[in-house]
Amino acid sequence: MVDLDVTGRRVFVRVDFNVPLADGVVQDDTRIRATLPTLHYALSRSAKLVLGTHLGRPRGERVPEMSLRPVAKQLAKQLAREVRFCGESIGEKVEEEVKLLPEGGVLLLENLRFDSGEELNDATFARRLAASSELYVNDAFGTAHRAHASTVGMVKHFPKTAAAGLLMERELLYLDMALASRSKPFVVLLGGAKISDKIDVVRSLLDRVDYLLIGGGMAYTFLRAKGYDTGSSLVEENKIDLAKELLAEAGDKLVLPSDHVVASRFDTATERKPLPITEVPKGWMGLDIGPKTIATYRDYILGAKMVIWNGPMGVFEMEPFAQGTVQIAKIVAESEATSLVGGGDSVAAVVHAGVADHITHISTGGGASLKFLAGEMLPGVEVLTNA
Ligand code: 3PG
Repeated sequence: MVDLDVTGRRVFVRVDFNVPLADGVVQDDTRIRATLPTLHYALSRSAKLVLGTHLGRPRGERVPEMSLRPVAKQLAKQLAREVRFCGESIGEKVEEEVKLLPEGGVLLLENLRFDSGEELNDATFARRLAASSELYVNDAFGTAHRAHASTVGMVKHFPKTAAAGLLMERELLYLDMALASRSKPFVVLLGGAKISDKIDVVRSLLDRVDYLLIGGGMAYTFLRAKGYDTGSSLVEENKIDLAKELLAEAGDKLVLPSDHVVASRFDTATERKPLPITEVPKGWMGLDIGPKTIATYRDYILGAKMVIWNGPMGVFEMEPFAQGTVQIAKIVAESEATSLVGGGDSVAAVVHAGVADHITHISTGGGASLKFLAGEMLPGVEVLTNA
């Protein structure tokens, strides 16, 4: 970005403000704060900023709870300046707003995924999005693994005027450094519920790591693949065969939980108990890793020279099932290894546990950092490189 002359120009900045909202209030603004260096850099040069992001997965529909209006408010607080909000992402209204933007002005567009053209990487949507600006900066590392209109399609409209933002640059430098260091033992902890997104990178990760510890929703697809009864736990049926193959290939590199906290319903008030992983009362579900698993994973983590953690160990957002994730956050922070934490919930857990300062690098990308570490090219980065 520092190679572009942004002075007084209209700059489209693709940010990743996919942040948790509850009752119209931003619950965690880590991703907003992480873009401040890029925004300050451009604003200090009197650029006119047009910011675009998605939030959630509205799938081409206008979902009022996923509007970015509350995000504009939070950003204004962080920037300590006015942030205008436009209820559209393309079209006349946007053009009018952009015309009104003074030097040093900031405009946040409505959720790009309210238009199906975003995820389809539709050429017309990309062209109309690009029409607002003279320069393009991608600072949305968290979305760099998606080939969408705002991350890939619109870039061709900025020949020699497209660049990576400062956050994007920093993320790539840290992750590159982590990969290049080849410190061993190298331990990766993988959790969370976005199973289909993550299980596909397990094979490439297995080639690079010494141990891959699995927790959270992901674990149950593997446990089912081993033939265990998983009750009503989250299982991705169409990934069971893949899980079987991975288990066979991985040997003792792939470590699964030995116990878990089970509950009768997906509910904070419900009855719950710790049980060996092989036991799930009929109709119950596993919602967190258990104390024995935490102790075992602790040994792996404290014995490592490089630790990467991505995805919660249980239903972290429900207090009774947050223990596994919170304890892992503390253990990763306690370890002397180079540590890298990515993914919304894992990052929230280290912040919540008050240990964020003890993590070498906190990444704003969950899926993106994982794919990068697995050696996959990120479309949002590749297109910038080519540009
Ligand atoms: C994320 O939170 O990982 C990014 O914002 C991408 O979101 P997505 O998984 O809905 O594409």
